[in-house]
Formats: sequence, structure tokens, C-alpha cells
Amino acid sequence: MSEQSSASKATPSGPNGRREPGGISSGVSLDDNFVQIIDVVKKFGETTAVRGVSLSVRNGELFALLGSSGCGKSTLLRMLAGLESVTEGQILIDGEDLAKMPPYNRPVNMVFQSYALFPHMSVEANVAFGLKQEGVKGGELKDRVRNVLELVQMAQYAKRKPHQLSGGQQQRVALARSLVKRPKLLLLDEPMSALDKQIRQRTQIELVNILDRVGVTCIMVTHDQEEAMMMANRLAVMSEGQIVQLGTPHEVYEYPNTRFSAQFIGSTNLFDGNVVEDEPDHVFVEAPELPVRMYVNHGITGPLGMPVTISVRPERIALTRKPPEGAYNLGRGKVTNIAYMGGYTLYHVTLDSGKVVVANLSSLAIGEIDSPTFGDEVYVRWSASAGVVLTS
Ligand SMILES: Nc1ncnc2c1ncn2[C@@H]1O[C@H](COP(=O)(O)OP(=O)(O)OP(=O)(O)O)[C@@H](O)[C@H]1O
Ligand SMILES: [Mg+2]
Repeated sequence: MSEQSSASKATPSGPNGRREPGGISSGVSLDDNFVQIIDVVKKFGETTAVRGVSLSVRNGELFALLGSSGCGKSTLLRMLAGLESVTEGQILIDGEDLAKMPPYNRPVNMVFQSYALFPHMSVEANVAFGLKQEGVKGGELKDRVRNVLELVQMAQYAKRKPHQLSGGQQQRVALARSLVKRPKLLLLDEPMSALDKQIRQRTQIELVNILDRVGVTCIMVTHDQEEAMMMANRLAVMSEGQIVQLGTPHEVYEYPNTRFSAQFIGSTNLFDGNVVEDEPDHVFVEAPELPVRMYVNHGITGPLGMPVTISVRPERIALTRKPPEGAYNLGRGKVTNIAYMGGYTLYHVTLDSGKVVVANLSSLAIGEIDSPTFGDEVYVRWSASAGVVLTS
């Protein structure tokens, strides 16, 4: 795919094979603000679906909008596609105001949740349809359809009808139908929701690879946090029409900024307490559910006594039969539930206070140690770097 594949050369693959957005270290360029969403509000009568969202998406980036049902993800995407008007605010694509572009000239294409393929048309006719409407014909039409079907590995199914394809194959045709028009911005609304888990995981990798090769900027909506983590360069967690947190999957997982974000991305243990000592490089928190103080090796901004919540991920918690050394970040309890998950095992430990702490032990570790079993008295413990202080 001509212009777009040359654009992707400027965005080398990252360590995990995904695109690293270009030009991040060299100050703000147009590439950084390829899509600009500025203070966008959307009202449907009394309902405010989107409440002042601002967001920039970089050229060549795969960006995910993540959030629970009804939080405004599709509405935001539909505004980007120009299918819904903006009540307040502005959307710029490649520096141009979307509202001022005529619909046929918008460099955007959207793949809907239900792929909406034409059932009576073959795969190639489905893919050719939009191009024909644009007046593309003859050899160019044929070439572009064939190239894009090869890209999504569907060339051998060109003559089939949609009902003769699997869900994953239909999804690839829907993608081909959008990519063939060479949009600058591709919008995907829950692209994998019709697929079962196994096909879904394989399709996620395929989709990242295809987008990588084409180099198209993509904004994807999903309510599946694993999918967003796996696919996206960056993601935004949305709640009630607003962005709660924005960052790379690593940043959002390791440094959630609110209880909502910590619980929405992955699972976590939350301990409520009050700040009893706050220094620039550490903080002590007294949590009624724990017998000892919590010690976190980063400071916060706020007064002594301030109520906070400490988030500790299950994989950061160690389980021991013997009392661990140290006077912070520990609790004693009983194993009240064990769930074998394959690669890891989930332990529920009910502390003396009644608080249930969840710990993940990798199956590798369990094979090597005398691991606790149901009903055992155990200690839970974590390091000063495992906790994140949340103030809202
Ligand atoms: N055309 C409409 N008229 C009135 N209200 C609407 C309209 N479209 C969406 N809404 C409302 O706006 C809010 C956000 O809807 P939206 O479809 O954006 O949610 P979503 O995050 O995509 O949810 P889901 O994950 O269920 O698809 C909801 O409360 C919804 O009922
Ligand atoms: Mg939706």
C-alpha cells in the first residue's frame, strides 16, 4: 500500500515487534498530534455521552480506547469518523478540522462491531465496492483489491460469500475493505468481539502485524483490557465519558492513577489507610486491615492523616509459611481458596482482620517450593516498590 507503507518505514518496530511512535524524543511535531481531540463534548438530549475529552494520537500509532459499557467509547469513535456531530470542541486530523471536511473527503475509515459485509457479494466484490464508488476501475481496481486481500491472507477466498467464511476470516475481509481505501486513520470498534477466545488471540497478533506493515494510524475501541494491553502502543481508560488515565500499557498497569484504573486494568489488592509519615522518597500508611504499617518507596503530595488507598498487584505478593523478616507490608492469614490457572495459581488468603488478599504464584515457582495448600497458615508480604499510593 503505497504512501502508507513508506510512512511506516520511519517508525521502526519496538522490542516486541510493535511500532514505536516516531519522533517522540524530538519535541512536539505534527506526527505527535496526528489526531487531535480538543475538549470534545457530545450530548444526546439530556444524556452527556462524552464529557470534555482531549487527546492526541501520533502518526502510525495503534491507540486503544478502553472502558466499560456505556462509557462513551463508540460515541467518541463515531465523532472521529464524522458519523456523529461534535456538540462542543474540535477534532483535527493531520492538522485539518474534521467538521470542515466534506464527508466524502474525510481520510478516515471505520470497521464496525458487526462487520456489515454484504451477504450476497463475494469477498472481492465486498472489498471492491467502496473503491468502485470512488470511481476506481479496471486494472487499478483489480490490483488494489488483490493486494489488500493478499495482505490479510484472504486471496484464496476471493470468490467466496461471507457466510462461507469463519468469523476470523470475515473480520479480515472487513479490515481489507477499510484498508483498500488507504485511509490516513483507521477506526476499529470492538473488532474482535464476535470471535471466540482462541481465534481472538491469534487475530490480535495478525491485526497488529497487518497494521504494522501498512503503517496506518489506528484508534481501536475495546472493553477487553488484555486485548488493549497486547495490541496498543498507548491506551486511554475511560469512565463516564471522561478519560481517567492515558499511557503505555506498562505505565497504566504499573502506575495506575486511581482506584478505577487499578481495578479496571488487571486485578489488584486495595488497602485503605491514612498517611502517617510522608517524606519525598517514601510514605508510611496505617491500614486497619493490616497488623503493621505499609511502607511505599515513593512520596505523595498531601497532608498527614490524609486517606489513601495502596494498590498491590497479586504477582507482587509473596506467600511464606515462616514469618518473613521486616516490620512492614505484611499480614498473616489462612489460605481459603486456590485456583489453578495453568501458567499461574491464584491464592486467596484471608487475613486475621478478615481482609482477603489475592496472590499469584507462577506455576514454575510452585513446582520448586513447598507451596502452601488450602487451610494452611501463611504470611503475605510485598516490597516497598510493589505498592502504588492512590489518592482518588
Ligand atoms: N444516538 C444516541 N442517542 C441517545 N443516547 C445515546 C446515543 N448513542 C449513545 N448514547 C448514550 O451515550 C452513552 C455512551 O454510549 P456509547 O455507545 O458511546 O458507549 P460505549 O462505551 O461504546 O459502550 P459499549 O461498550 O456498550 O459499546 C450511553 O449512555 C448511551 O446510551
Ligand atoms: Mg460501543
